[in-house]
Amino acid sequence: MEFETKNGHLIWDGCDTVALAEKFGTPLYVFSQTMIEEKCQELQRDFVEKYDKVRVAFASKAFSTLAMLKIIQQQGFSLDVVSDGELYTAIKADFPAEQIEMNGNNKSIEELEMAIDYGVGRIIVDSLQEVDLIAAIAKEKQKVVNILFRITPEVNVTTHSFISTGQKDSKFGIPIDEEILFPQIKKAIDTPEVNFLGFHFHVGSQLFDNQAHLAAVGIALDLVKMVKERYNYVIEELNFGGGFGVRYTDADQPKPFSYFTDPMMKVVLAFCEKESYPQPAVVIEPGRSIVAEAGISLHTIGAIKELPGLRKYVSIDGGMTDNIRPGLYQAEYTGVLANQADQPATETVTVSGKACESTDILVKDIQLPKVEAGDIFATFSTGAYGYSMANNYNKLAIPAVVLTKAGKAEVIVKRQSLDQIIQNEVIPDFLQ
Ligand code: LLP
Repeated sequence: MEFETKNGHLIWDGCDTVALAEKFGTPLYVFSQTMIEEKCQELQRDFVEKYDKVRVAFASKAFSTLAMLKIIQQQGFSLDVVSDGELYTAIKADFPAEQIEMNGNNKSIEELEMAIDYGVGRIIVDSLQEVDLIAAIAKEKQKVVNILFRITPEVNVTTHSFISTGQKDSKFGIPIDEEILFPQIKKAIDTPEVNFLGFHFHVGSQLFDNQAHLAAVGIALDLVKMVKERYNYVIEELNFGGGFGVRYTDADQPKPFSYFTDPMMKVVLAFCEKESYPQPAVVIEPGRSIVAEAGISLHTIGAIKELPGLRKYVSIDGGMTDNIRPGLYQAEYTGVLANQADQPATETVTVSGKACESTDILVKDIQLPKVEAGDIFATFSTGAYGYSMANNYNKLAIPAVVLTKAGKAEVIVKRQSLDQIIQNEVIPDFLQ
């Protein structure tokens, strides 16, 4: 990993990370606005401005906070939400309703009502009951709702099986099946309360190869053709999901967005040309690739346990509660001692968290300078699915989040207090 240092300290977006740890405490998430914007600009330049009728919808599950949604809004991007909480965050950030797309494999009636009341731009239908549900709610509210069908394109992906979603045996999406998908399409076309726009897929996450996306685009276009032939209906929009891989360690070799988007667009445009079909709008839904590398986590090292000839554990003041990915997906990370960032590595240690769980190991066998209690460990690439999957196991508080921009740093999420951890707890009368 390349990184900047000054006076031996790790510098992040112009900020001294040791000073950030002192000022805001640890554990701390630090997000560089500059780096988030750089990713957005790459998307603007190589996708949005390069092609007609294309959009980017940030998958807010990767990192949903009011400040982050403001950055996304400033870019003119759309937003993908999957729950009442993510939608509520978008509403509170004044995110334009028509630029919101709602995904989710089991949206509740309340969530659908909330989305339709706010007037979200699209609802991505992901279950067989949903068209009827949406139509009933829309009828009552005298609205017409734009929908897409999330399909399972049945393509194989190379990623951790926990984050692959495009296969037939998946809780996500509707299988492309004569008895399953087509009656839904017919219903959507015939139902006046819904405006059937097209198809959506998301094949998986943290992908470095474009083959799965390309195969799925081909399958979606076959469907587009079939819908035209069978129902004389023109599909206006296709959403190709997210999933573009990022660098967690030097072993990861991420590709530019254009590695995925250029060939996908080429296939779409060639189809339109060949079939004399009007070009549908094309949407992509990246989450991780916009925020992962912009975020780091800072922890203070406490207990150090040396098992001679076996392993040296250095424990941090957080762990799987602020980054569950190693425990959940065997995800690998790397990092540095932020206060000795220019020192050569002299020992191999295992950075462990403080949760009561053996899988709470943040980085196994990392080379660091001599570690002492009080050192600050900075983990790279924790911007996606770190804060958003943080939890209160062991009643550890959810850390604060700081946003940096060229030397400035401000808290965008305050540290959870101990009172907040128990604020919803009640002792029933019969225990008094
Ligand atoms: N669109 C849909 C419909 C999705 O389900 C997802 C991710 C995305 C877009 C964004 O994918 P991305 O560009 O971030 O790869 N917690 C896991 C990742 C779960 C992803 C779920 N869906 C992790 O930490 O690796």
